[in-house]
Formats: sequence, C-alpha cells, structure tokens
Amino acid sequence: MQPKLIIAIDGYSSCGKSTVAKALAKKLQLHYIDSGAMYRAVTLYFLENYIPIPGPEEVHDFVYDFEKVLDEVHISFQFNPDSGFSEVYLNDKNVELEIRSMLISENVSHVSSIKAVRDRLVALQQMAADSGSLVMDGRDIGTTVFPNADLKIFMKADPMVRANRRYKEMQDKGIEVTLEEVINNVVGRDYEDTHRDESPLRKAVDAVVLDNTHISQEDQVEFVLNEIQKVKNQAKSSI
Ligand code: DC
Repeated sequence: MQPKLIIAIDGYSSCGKSTVAKALAKKLQLHYIDSGAMYRAVTLYFLENYIPIPGPEEVHDFVYDFEKVLDEVHISFQFNPDSGFSEVYLNDKNVELEIRSMLISENVSHVSSIKAVRDRLVALQQMAADSGSLVMDGRDIGTTVFPNADLKIFMKADPMVRANRRYKEMQDKGIEVTLEEVINNVVGRDYEDTHRDESPLRKAVDAVVLDNTHISQEDQVEFVLNEIQKVKNQAKSSI
C-alpha cells in the first residue's frame, strides 16, 4: 500500500491555489478539499440567517453563542462526475456557485476570523485526512491544520495580476462585478487574512514558495509534481 500523502497549499486570495490543487488531485488520484469553500459556506449560512458578523475591531470582545449557531451548520462535499470534482453542500444543499458571489467574498474574512468558526472547521478538515491521501488548499493548512504535511506549498502573485484573473473568472461565471470591486476585495482580504489573531495567513517555515505571477498553470503543476517527487525520494533514502 502507498503511504498516505498530505499536500498543503496555502497562499493569498485568487492565487490559483484551487486550480493547481485540482490538477494535482486529478493527476495523482488524491482527494481534494477546498477549505476556503467551507469558510464561504459558513458565511452564507450567517448571512441567510441574520447571524451578526463582527468586524476586525470587535471580533475579540464580541459576545455571541457562535457554537450554538455552528451546531446547525453541516458542511459536506459530494463528487460531481460532470465537473470531475467535489462540490460543497451546506445542510444538504449544493451551494458551490452561491458561495462565489461578491457578497460572500466581502464577508468571508470577517467570519473566518471568529475563533469558534476556525476551531470547528479545522477539526473537520483534520478529520478528512482519516480517509487517506489528500491535497487541501487554504490559508492555514501548512501552519495549523496539517503542520506535519508531507509537502507545503505557499503560493503568491502580484495583486493586480490576481485581481485581473479573479475578475475574468467571475465574468466567465456570469457574476456581475467591476474590476475595482475585485481589486478592493483581493487587497482587503489579503490584509485581513494576514492580520487576524487566529491562525493568520503566513508561510510555514518549511513551505516551498511558488510565485506564479508569470508562470503558466501547466508549469505550476509541473513545479509541484517535482517537489512531490523530491519528498518521495527523500522518504525512500531515509528508509
Ligand atoms: O480560498 P478562498 O478565497 O475561497 O477563501 C475565502 C476566505 O476564507 C479567505 O479570504 C480567508 C478564509 N480562509 C481561511 O481563513 N482559512 C482557510 N484555510 C481558507 C480560507
């Protein structure tokens, strides 16, 4: 039997983490989990149910029974044979498209700064590894969720390049948005994700940096495959 392989991909918003992760999952037959989709699904639940969302200044002292709210939030992934990937379900409803809206993007960093939310989702993410090898992307996968991951990749790219990519992606999906809104959102989320107290986005000391400002998707996947091979060779030579 092959040893279990855990690949953690972290990085800034709209860096193309999920594109690389999906390609790897397909190529290596690994389970893929988009941890950002989980935070987005919780955000959708909060908005739909008028749960108060504290801003960055209030998040420490905000008194609210988030635990009770989270008991009502059930997140799962189901494989879609048409797309070839798992899609996210919130309380048994497919919300894959809904969670990509601008309204969710504007609120998700606030919701993901709430400690109770992080504790709940990190536990779920860690459980996902019980069933075997996986690739997971997010902000704290290599630092908090899987600090012992076999390979950690930290992705970054020029913010304008990222905003333009995200803008095009949203237009392709028919989501109405201006480039300015996307730029503000990308830059704003970078700030909030790196400055929150609860497991902020940062490069794990042992992560390999992939700056994809000028690199094609194929080359990014090739880069990571090469890193995986290095990990496997090291494991072999240490037996
Ligand atoms: O990957 P994404 O852009 O869909 O993630 C949406 C937000 O979720 C991101 O701005 C911060 C939060 N997030 C997080 O805090 N931790 C993760 N592991 C993944 C996402």
